[in-house]
Amino acid sequence: MKEIKINFKNTLLNKELIEKEGERLDAEIQTVRDLHAGYETPYSFINLPFDEQYQAIIEQLVSEKKQLKPTLIVVIGIGGSNLGTIAIIESVLGKFYNEDQKRPKIYFADTVDTNYINAIYQLCERELENDNTILINAVTKSGTTTETIANFEVFLNLLIKYRPADYQQYVVVTTDQGSCLEAIAQEKKFAILSIPKQVGGRYSVFSAVGLFAFVMLDIDIRSLLAGARDITTICISKEIENNYAAKSAIIKYLHYKNDIIINDLFVFSVQLESIGKWYRQLMGESIGKEFDTENQRVNTGITPTVSVGSIDLHSVGQLYLGGPRDKFITFLTIEKLKNELTLPTFKEFDNCVANIQGKSLSYILDAIVKGVKIAYQNDNRPFYSIELPELSAYYVGQLLQMYMIEMVYLGYLLKVNPFDQPNVELYKKETRKILAQ
Ligand code: PA5
Repeated sequence: MKEIKINFKNTLLNKELIEKEGERLDAEIQTVRDLHAGYETPYSFINLPFDEQYQAIIEQLVSEKKQLKPTLIVVIGIGGSNLGTIAIIESVLGKFYNEDQKRPKIYFADTVDTNYINAIYQLCERELENDNTILINAVTKSGTTTETIANFEVFLNLLIKYRPADYQQYVVVTTDQGSCLEAIAQEKKFAILSIPKQVGGRYSVFSAVGLFAFVMLDIDIRSLLAGARDITTICISKEIENNYAAKSAIIKYLHYKNDIIINDLFVFSVQLESIGKWYRQLMGESIGKEFDTENQRVNTGITPTVSVGSIDLHSVGQLYLGGPRDKFITFLTIEKLKNELTLPTFKEFDNCVANIQGKSLSYILDAIVKGVKIAYQNDNRPFYSIELPELSAYYVGQLLQMYMIEMVYLGYLLKVNPFDQPNVELYKKETRKILAQ
């Protein structure tokens, strides 16, 4: 098995400190190792890539829905119910996935921003007017998220308007068993996919939350899930030195304890930006906590940010290399790029930028990445590097599973529950009060 490569050389932490925290983490690694098939605890998201029976249910529904030949799919969900889906689609299919005629277009309705939702609505209406088929996938674990239910009602109404006789068959609801939305879906005879109850929203990308859309778009989920399975073995190893998830968690924890409170995922591929946004939620909600597991007020958390190279070298590069020493950076790069563009040899441009004529764009990007890392090293700024051998479903599967396991370990080191998000409820409660007025 080939795997993503993590180079921990430039973390500026000493080996003994890492080993000491590794000993503390041992019990949590054992908890993960003791997991058996099934979904008894929140840790069991780890089992999703191994669950072929569950995957078969999703594939069966996809093959039924493909018969309808949808030209457009709207995924309605927010946070853990769509960020992972977007991340994998964008990284595997590229930013312009909707330009490809081979597969249905896909749009994500998350926020209740009228301009944005209306634009998707218009696209759907155009398809329906042209007698094409659209498919709506409402994804909400709780079934009670305001934005999702509001958007679902909007698009459902549109479907009913154009397909009054059989609108039901164009709807798929992905939710928890027993949620109020499941009850409505049952009554209306919508297709239903279940999310295992103990699997938390931001840990659910390898459940029906993501898989339904991936299979609809012909993303190779066998490779995606094989990647997730293969990296799991590494991430539950007791040898910290070889356990990417554990070592990464320890490094982020130790830096946090040294007042390095910002974690930036600096991706050197536009296609990986949404993985950065997915990770931002994973880290933000999992370890940003008011109370620890012993109910002591701790107000803990590492602030996750995402930067896209080389674009953001021209926006935040100055801050990162000149500003406060409060950031730990992960440089995420791709070793082998599929498409190559080579510059011509226009001699006259040598006066503007020398030594790029005749070279490929990835050669130039590589020089930029190397230059950035040397600048970081010279200024003693901590970072580590992750390299994907190539941008494929297999390595993306590895990366996401590694990060989810890492977050469990980071929660343990910080003594917080990585699976809940009690403070998000605060805004939801206030919003409900206002809506009730
Ligand atoms: O990670 C989480 O649990 C949250 O981000 C949820 O995914 C998000 O709030 C959406 O919730 P739901 O899927 O219940 O609509």
